[in-house]
Amino acid sequence: MKGRPNFRNRTVWTGDNLDILRGINSESVELIYLDPPFNSNRDYAAPIGSKAAGAAFKDTWTLDDVDEAWHGEIAERDPGLYAIIGGAGLAHGASMKSYLIMMAVRLLEMRRVLKPTGSLYLHCDPTANAYLRTLMDAIFGAPQFRNEIVWRRTSSRNDAKRWGGVHDTILFYTKTRDFNWNRTLSPHDPEYVRKFYRHKDKNGRYRLHEIIRTASMGERPNLAYEYKGYLPQWGWRKVREKVEALDEAGRLVWSDSGRPYVKRYLSEHPGTPIRDVVTDIPPVSGHAKERTGYPTQKPLALLERIIKASSNPGDMILDPFCGCATALVAAETQHRRWAGIDLSPLAVKLVRERLYDHHGAFGQIIARDDLPKRDDLGKLPNYRTHRHTLYGRQEGICNGCLVHFPFRNLTVDHIVPQSKGGTDHESNLQLLCGACNSKKGERPMEALVADLLAAGIRNGNVYRSIGQ
Ligand SMILES: C[S@@+](CC[C@H](N)C(=O)[O-])C[C@H]1O[C@@H](n2cnc3c(N)ncnc32)[C@H](O)[C@@H]1O
Repeated sequence: MKGRPNFRNRTVWTGDNLDILRGINSESVELIYLDPPFNSNRDYAAPIGSKAAGAAFKDTWTLDDVDEAWHGEIAERDPGLYAIIGGAGLAHGASMKSYLIMMAVRLLEMRRVLKPTGSLYLHCDPTANAYLRTLMDAIFGAPQFRNEIVWRRTSSRNDAKRWGGVHDTILFYTKTRDFNWNRTLSPHDPEYVRKFYRHKDKNGRYRLHEIIRTASMGERPNLAYEYKGYLPQWGWRKVREKVEALDEAGRLVWSDSGRPYVKRYLSEHPGTPIRDVVTDIPPVSGHAKERTGYPTQKPLALLERIIKASSNPGDMILDPFCGCATALVAAETQHRRWAGIDLSPLAVKLVRERLYDHHGAFGQIIARDDLPKRDDLGKLPNYRTHRHTLYGRQEGICNGCLVHFPFRNLTVDHIVPQSKGGTDHESNLQLLCGACNSKKGERPMEALVADLLAAGIRNGNVYRSIGQ
C-alpha cells in the first residue's frame, strides 16, 4: 500500500538497485543515504585477508555502461533533467554524461519512494558534486536543497600543484518543506574545550561567560542596578534576582579587576548544534575496530549523525548502494528499520558479520535476490485488459515500426520489462505488432528502435511515457 514498505525490516537485496527500486512502494521510506560510485575513474578492490576480501566495484563510466532505454526514459519523464545531463556531457565529456544518466534514473525512483517528510543524503566528492547538485535540483526542485555538507575525510594529502583535496561532499535534499528534523549536537572540538573551558572546580570544567552588557548591545543601558557595589556602565544581562541566585549557587566569579562573570559548565553544554562542515569524525583508520577492509567504507559516526538528524526510531532507512552496510549498522544502532541493496553478494555477508559483531543479530537478516512487487498501485487488472484503451491512444499504430494494424494484430508490451521491475500499470504498457514484440523481447524500447532504424523499417522516434 502507498506509504507502507512492501518489504520486511532488515532486508538486503543483491542486485541492481534500479530494478529493485522500481518494485518498492511509493512514499514508503523516511530516509535514503546513498554513497554511489563517484565517477572517480578508478576500480576498487578490498585487500586480500580483510573481512571484505573479494569485494570490488568499478567506477569508470562510458556510454556502453548505460542502458539505451534510460536516455529515453529521462527525456520523457523530465526533459529539463535531460538537458542538464546533455550540458554536463558537453562541458565534461561522455564519461560524466554516462555517469549522470546512470544516477538520474535511480534518483528519480528514490524520490518516488521517499515519504513526503523524507530526506535524501547523496554522498559524493568534487569529481561530480557540481553536476549532481544540478541533477538533484532538477529532480527534487531547487527549494528542497538543504545543505552541502563537507566531510573532512582525510587530514593529509598533498597534491603537487593544487590545494590538497581532503573532503567529500554530502548533498542533503528533502522531498518537501515539511520534513523530519531533529536538533542534533556534535561533541565539542577538544581544541575548543581546551581553549575556552579553561577553569575547573568540584563541579567540573567551566568557562567564564559575560554577565554584564557591553556598548555594542544597545544605545542605552538596561538593567542598570548596583550589585555588591558594582554598577556596570551598560547594565546587567540578567535581572537582580537571577544574579543573586547565581551568586548564592557559587556561580559568580569576580576577576582581579573587579569585573563579574558567570560560570558555564561544560556538562551543561555537551555539544554544538551540527554544522555543515564536519571535522570531528575521522575516516575509518587501518586499525579501527569497525574496519572491514571494504573499499570506500564510511565511518559509523557519520551515518549515526545523519540518521539521528533526519529520522526517528522506527522509521525506515534505505541505502541503495550499501557496500559493507555502514548505514544499515548505524540504523540498527539507532533503533530504525532498514533495508539495503548492493550489486555485490558480499554485502549480505558483511551485513551479517557486522550486525553480529554489534548486536548479535545474526540470522535475522533477510537476504533477497528477487524483485519486490509493488502493492500500492491498487489491485491491477490483468495487463491485457488495457488493449482497447491503448489501441485508441496509439490510433492503431505499432509503437515499434509505426505501421497501422488491425486490433487483433497488436499485442501488449511492457515498456520497462517485468524482469527489470516494470509493472502492469497502464503507464508501463504499449502496443507492438507481433514482429516488433518478439524483436524487442526482454530488451528496452530503445534497443528495438535502434534495430528498426538500422534496418530502415522506421524513421521516427515514438516512445511512450512511464513514471507511475
Ligand atoms: C562507495 S561503495 C559504498 C560504501 C558504503 N557506503 C560503506 O560504507 O560500506 C559503493 C557500492 O555501490 C555498489 N553499487 C554500484 N553500482 C550499483 C548498483 N547499480 N546497484 C547496487 N549497488 C551498486 C558497489 O558494489 C559498492 O559496494
